[in-house]
Amino acid sequence: MKQILIALFVICFVGISQCDLIKGFKPPATPLFVVDPQFSVWAPSHNLTDAFTTHWTGATKAVVGVIRIDDKPYRYLGPQKTAGSDLPEPIKQTDLIVFPTRTVYTFEHEKLSLEVQFSTPLLTDDYDLLSRPITYITYKVKPKNGPVKVQLYIDVVGEIATDNNEEVVQYSSKSTDVSTSVIIGTVSQPVVKKGCDGCGINWGYFYLTAPKSSQTTQVIALADDSRTSFSTTGRLPSQSLVESRKVRDGYPVVATAWDLGVLNSPKELFAIASYDDIVSIDFFGQHLKAYWTQKFATLQDLLDDSVKQYSVILEKLKEFDEVHVADLTRVGGDTYATVASLAYRQALGGMKLVWNDKNKMPWYFLKEISSDGDASTVDVIYPASPILLFFNPKLLLQQLLPIVSYAANETWSKYPHAFAPHHLGIYPVCNIVSGAQEDMPVEETANMLQMWSAVVQRADDAEVRKLTQQYWSLFTVWADYLVSVLPDPGEQLCTDDFTGPSPHNSNLAAKGIIGIAAYAQIAAYLQKSSVASKYHDVARGYSVKWIGLATAPDGSHTKLQYDKPDSFSLKYNIYYQNVLNITLFDPKPDIKYYLASKNNKYGTPLDNRANFTKLDWYYWVAAISTPDQFKIFAQKGYDMAGATTRGIPLTDWYETDTAAIKGFRARPVVGGIYAKMALSRKF
Ligand SMILES: *[C@@H]1O[C@H](CO)[C@@H](O)[C@H](O)[C@H]1NC(C)=O
Ligand SMILES: *[C@@H]1O[C@H](CO)[C@@H](O)[C@H](O)[C@H]1NC(C)=O
Ligand SMILES: *[C@@H]1O[C@H](CO)[C@@H](O)[C@H](O)[C@H]1NC(C)=O
Ligand SMILES: *[C@@H]1O[C@H](CO)[C@@H](O)[C@H](O)[C@H]1NC(C)=O
Repeated sequence: MKQILIALFVICFVGISQCDLIKGFKPPATPLFVVDPQFSVWAPSHNLTDAFTTHWTGATKAVVGVIRIDDKPYRYLGPQKTAGSDLPEPIKQTDLIVFPTRTVYTFEHEKLSLEVQFSTPLLTDDYDLLSRPITYITYKVKPKNGPVKVQLYIDVVGEIATDNNEEVVQYSSKSTDVSTSVIIGTVSQPVVKKGCDGCGINWGYFYLTAPKSSQTTQVIALADDSRTSFSTTGRLPSQSLVESRKVRDGYPVVATAWDLGVLNSPKELFAIASYDDIVSIDFFGQHLKAYWTQKFATLQDLLDDSVKQYSVILEKLKEFDEVHVADLTRVGGDTYATVASLAYRQALGGMKLVWNDKNKMPWYFLKEISSDGDASTVDVIYPASPILLFFNPKLLLQQLLPIVSYAANETWSKYPHAFAPHHLGIYPVCNIVSGAQEDMPVEETANMLQMWSAVVQRADDAEVRKLTQQYWSLFTVWADYLVSVLPDPGEQLCTDDFTGPSPHNSNLAAKGIIGIAAYAQIAAYLQKSSVASKYHDVARGYSVKWIGLATAPDGSHTKLQYDKPDSFSLKYNIYYQNVLNITLFDPKPDIKYYLASKNNKYGTPLDNRANFTKLDWYYWVAAISTPDQFKIFAQKGYDMAGATTRGIPLTDWYETDTAAIKGFRARPVVGGIYAKMALSRKF
């Protein structure tokens, strides 16, 4: 794998321009600090100076930045109007590029150019980096016409650490040999007390950190005092706030300023935004901490290391972005690469790597962002799974472990059903009791078996083998459930529950049948060959029946429901048979039909009941189309991402005629855009 990547890297950088992301692409919202479901700050406007930055929920989490050029202040981050005095005029933004791990803004002034970069080390093959709850903010200042005096400023409002502005915040500062930090968090500190979808985290502490330097100063002050002081004098207020106060009472900020003096040559400097959440997940009473706590005793230690490793880590991210964008472009073209780059941090930023000290394993959690806020929803893990299958299938296993653990009664909360659970609680609190499930029996059971089989095929090692043996009897119960209710799933909810009930759903049935075949593969993996052939035969028999039940009377396509002759639906569930190397169904189901007669401006509707579709499923179907067909899918996906409702992180549920959001935002399911990548990688 490494060798292939290096070869691509070389091919790409001898000057083939198609390795570039598309210039001028305007994301609906731009990732700035996008680290996990809690620490998630986005720029809602294309120009960084047009609006306050927000959490994925839409709540303001203001970050404000000012640069003084020869004593004249300009803002580079944040709008003119604030709760206090107006901010200075904006510096002109000339470019914005969203790479997988980095967002790069360029600003121009007659005397200098300024680049501001937000980089988050979400690298899936390096758990140490993946788990660091940090975003580097890098500044590159380049004088244009001789010496220029430069001072830089950034602040973050205390609301970053609260759910609402009535909450009272406290502050502190820390200084070591290598770094200085200003820190803010609530007084109340209700650590993992409550799960909630639309809430901001109101425990733990936000840190704004800079390398120690005589050019750097920091303060905790009221927003207006801090910004006015810097804008007018280039200096921070001399006194830091001491007394805790409500956020709305003057909007206390943590701020950092740099006095670079008179610059003759380019200068690079950086700060780090980070969040110490103390405890990340409550798993049925067991408190799970972020994975990084295994390596660092305190966040301050992690920050010192991150300051020391700055150049190494940044170089790694830059190289990753270049190699990966080249890979995306090679597989799917520049429209595909541009959308996948935007999806990268959204997908991984909806997940959280923790350390389970009981079984000494990393576990990976996910939040069903903006639709209930459920923890580890199986039918959200599943659409997102291609990104993990492509980069690191072991991470997908670590995402499935909390679910099998709960389903196998390893927690106090007993799980009574013969089918797989839907979710574990409301993120970050996993404490569900059996009556509180949102049952989707065939959906989740088949999802689990398919994903487990994919992991077994792609990440086989002693641990995978041991775990597969450990949960074998659970998988058997699940497979028998599928056998008992198929090939007609009757009246059941499937993942597209927002469209209402859909009995005799043929797409759901196909999933279940592939689930049975996936179980047969797991059996084969454990050398249970008679079990494998028995279940394989059942799956094959059902798939033959399915073709009779699901095919439309004129034979042109397959139906939404067995009992609705005039219906159709996106058969995205066929995708996983390609992942698993199973051939029960036509491997390119209905795609000609979609392109010929169900092809709206921004894609194919989910089914005949409405004009909306799901972006994740759309890319799943695209992944199993021919290269020529894929170009059409990718172009429409790109057009959709540029035209959809602005100001909120990319939606996955939108209208195919207008691209407008129907619901859902910022969800990790955009990991499904990687469906084609997952098929491109051979194991
Ligand atoms: C962003 O700012 C630039 C320069 O100030 C301006 O030309 C451009 O129209 C703005 N773009 C948007 C989308 O507002
Ligand atoms: C878990 O416990 C419940 C309730 O006691 C029981 O119905 C169920 O069969 C158990 N599940 C497993 C996999 O042992
Ligand atoms: C896929 O399955 C076919 C037939 O079952 C087999 O010949 C082939 O080697 C498999 N490919 C991979 C990549 O496992
Ligand atoms: C989809 O949109 C078209 C054009 O606006 C409209 O005629 C049609 O009724 C819509 N279909 C559904 C299922 O809402």
